[in-house]
Amino acid sequence: MKVCVFSTQKYDEQAFTQWSDPAIEWTFLSQKLDLASAHAADGFEAICVFVNDTLDAPVLQLLKELGVRVIALRCAGFNNVDVPVASQLGFTVVRVPAYSPQAVAEHSVGLILCLDRKFHKAYNRTRDDNFDLNGLLGFNLHGKTVGIIGTGRIGTVAAKILLGFGCRVLCVDPVTNPQVIDMGAEYVSLEELYPQADIISLYCPLTPDSVHLINQQSLAKMKDGVMLINTSRGALVDTKAVIKALKSAKIGYLGLDVYEQEADLFFKDLSDQIISDEVFQRLLTFPNVLITGHQAFFTVEAMEQISRITSDNLMMLARGETCPNTI
Ligand code: NAI
Repeated sequence: MKVCVFSTQKYDEQAFTQWSDPAIEWTFLSQKLDLASAHAADGFEAICVFVNDTLDAPVLQLLKELGVRVIALRCAGFNNVDVPVASQLGFTVVRVPAYSPQAVAEHSVGLILCLDRKFHKAYNRTRDDNFDLNGLLGFNLHGKTVGIIGTGRIGTVAAKILLGFGCRVLCVDPVTNPQVIDMGAEYVSLEELYPQADIISLYCPLTPDSVHLINQQSLAKMKDGVMLINTSRGALVDTKAVIKALKSAKIGYLGLDVYEQEADLFFKDLSDQIISDEVFQRLLTFPNVLITGHQAFFTVEAMEQISRITSDNLMMLARGETCPNTI
């Protein structure tokens, strides 16, 4: 099977070359998929895409005209695909529903620890021979209340880690996971979670219902000085409302691995360019904000699983079998 890979980074090419079925012929392109770049898929039966590739109705229509039949997402989330249009046009869309929930959960806990104990500031200080502790005061995680929104694969791992720190863990999810209750966490409503949580971390998918779940109204219900963590999808958070809440000190700490407008920024080296996104630039001015560029998934173990599962998905379809990871 010939597969055209969009948004390829060096590490994607290395991983697919190392861990995929040799029967797959990969063509690696660095361009992000959009209406302008989609023509590169001409002559390919399958394409492989990532989180910020655009698969809206016009792009899907063009891909169909070019002869593409299979879309293999090398990620879990599929909010960037217009699924009803894709199925109407007869595409088979597959994804990697679970590759390493630990990778993302551990990164989110890393953000919590870093914001709390200010490792990023300490690292810079000690490299300057500055061993002053003023401004580095943290708090114990032990005994704090953490609100987890979404107890699927990643949220469940995060709950387990945080319970291990001795936190009280309150969870919100329309589906109760008995494993989470057995571990010692409690399910509550959002209305109960907001005023009690010292830390709130998001692990739910981006859907039409969850866009801007964190907004001016929900922020008003939270504790003053709350720590907010988002490793899920950027648009779960209304960034402008969050900036207001940072200015008023309602939010005391903000850790983001995802950002609403990340498609124009993340996965690229823009260090010699002027960033025109003023909302993002404002975020970076706050001393209590820590942003990573959608790297929560990025571990060796996750890259191996992503490559193997994407390859297995494509090989199943090539053999005419039904793939269980079809959306
Ligand atoms: P999952 O599908 O296993 O779990 C999601 C959970 O959220 C489900 O239990 C679902 O019932 C719940 N949920 C849905 N809507 C909700 C709402 N409005 N409020 C509360 N809970 C809600 O998904 P998984 O694997 O745990 O991934 C979660 C999200 O993490 C993905 O949708 C993806 O957007 C993001 N992700 C981010 C990565 C990164 O590198 N930053 C990597 C992988 C995933």
